[in-house]
Amino acid sequence: MTTIARPNYRGKYHFSPRRNWMNDPNGLVYFAGEYHLFYQHYPHGTTWGPMHWGHAVSKDLVRWEELDIALAPDENGTIFSGSAVVDWRNTTGFFAAEPGLVAIFTHHLERPGKPPLQTQSLAYSKDKGRTWTKYEGNPVLAHDELVDFRDPKVFWHENTGRWIMILACGQTVCLYHSPDLKTWTFGSEFGRGVGFHGGVWECPDLFPLAVDGDASRLKWVMLVSVGDAPAYKEGSRTQYFIGDFDGVTFTPDQASPPVRWLDYGRDNYAAVSWSDIPAEDGRRLLVGWMSNWKYANLTPTEDFRGAATLPRELTLETRGGEAVLVQRPARELARARVPLLALGRTACAAADAALRSLQLDSCELVAEAASDRSFAFKVRAGEGQETLIGFDAAAGEVYVDRTRSGQHAFHEHFRGVHAAKLQVIGDAVRLHIWVDRSSVEVFAGEGEAVITDLIFPDAGSTGMGLIADQEDFELISLTVHQLEPSAMD
Ligand code: FRU
Repeated sequence: MTTIARPNYRGKYHFSPRRNWMNDPNGLVYFAGEYHLFYQHYPHGTTWGPMHWGHAVSKDLVRWEELDIALAPDENGTIFSGSAVVDWRNTTGFFAAEPGLVAIFTHHLERPGKPPLQTQSLAYSKDKGRTWTKYEGNPVLAHDELVDFRDPKVFWHENTGRWIMILACGQTVCLYHSPDLKTWTFGSEFGRGVGFHGGVWECPDLFPLAVDGDASRLKWVMLVSVGDAPAYKEGSRTQYFIGDFDGVTFTPDQASPPVRWLDYGRDNYAAVSWSDIPAEDGRRLLVGWMSNWKYANLTPTEDFRGAATLPRELTLETRGGEAVLVQRPARELARARVPLLALGRTACAAADAALRSLQLDSCELVAEAASDRSFAFKVRAGEGQETLIGFDAAAGEVYVDRTRSGQHAFHEHFRGVHAAKLQVIGDAVRLHIWVDRSSVEVFAGEGEAVITDLIFPDAGSTGMGLIADQEDFELISLTVHQLEPSAMD
């Protein structure tokens, strides 16, 4: 008798809840040496249900410890997405002694015979996020007409000395301001006739970044996730805008900016950034939900469903005369590296042979090759299965081909090839590839083009390889590391 190993789809170095459902990251905040990751969570099943905030913390962005549920439904409704901040100045009056955490989230109330009601509410914690008290004055912000009125992201705006909230309002975002997080004043609306509107707008974020690290060239980046709609096979995805923000109004650099996507894969949604990263660190760190509303409830994981993307550092860098958003995996991940392979200039057949000698269900690859050649790495390869990650020189595109990556029958739109244009700098193309038990993340170039895709291969599909159109193709360099979070110093 042969036994077929059941696939283990839980990421080795990606966060997923021990059990049950997860969607959006929520309440991302750094406080007292810990990165907090709250998340949309249904603790009684593996599909979306009445939402709670699950909670995990990490000291290094790699190893996550799951804690008790932070926020559970109450008479105002279930707990939808939102953010968290440190109230350093005790503007709320919640914290007499030490600064503490305030969560600003959406209450979602189902009402018989009426559309649901979405309002914004507060909860605070005086013990580093371990226990939470809901504010007795909840909700703090409601709308008379809008049904889709949710996902508050709040930050302290230094220049005006007040809190700003960016909120998804159906097909636009609204900006509010407040002295104390409790009373909110409408400032402006953004998005009418601008950007992509093929689905409901959700989970916005707004933050400043210095172009090319030059503090005198500050720009504001707005992220807006757009929900799934039947007309778009891409499902839910996240767009971004670059512009200026004066404390009231966001003005995009171009009157009608082209649509720009954060990620060209299918599985990075509702990505938002961490609040209160210390100034001496200075990074803008982001994490997304590694799934897609098109099929999120159907993916073939067993005791859990949903995971976070790798944490990424965001920068704004000039490419071809304009500022673009660049993503790099958080540098802390390098501390989990265990070296497996390091090649200099190597012919295709030899590099392929070296890769074939490895059997890995998770790893990190960094490869460089001449940009006038097409090539592809095979990962998670086995009986009739492979995921291809490659560069198409003629198209100038990097791609992930998951058409034969493993289980796909759970949704007709899961199979496919996902490509991103890559503006090559110099004459070499660089691919930084992260493979985990049910995902691949590709950062091409310096991270100007990113593809995040789920895959569901068999447990035995652990083969790797390299293919190229031309026999004389060679790699400039290749390194392969295993990631061992438990071996981190
Ligand atoms: C985005 C989203 C949010 C909402 C939450 C509900 O994925 O639809 O707009 O707050 O998920 O779980």
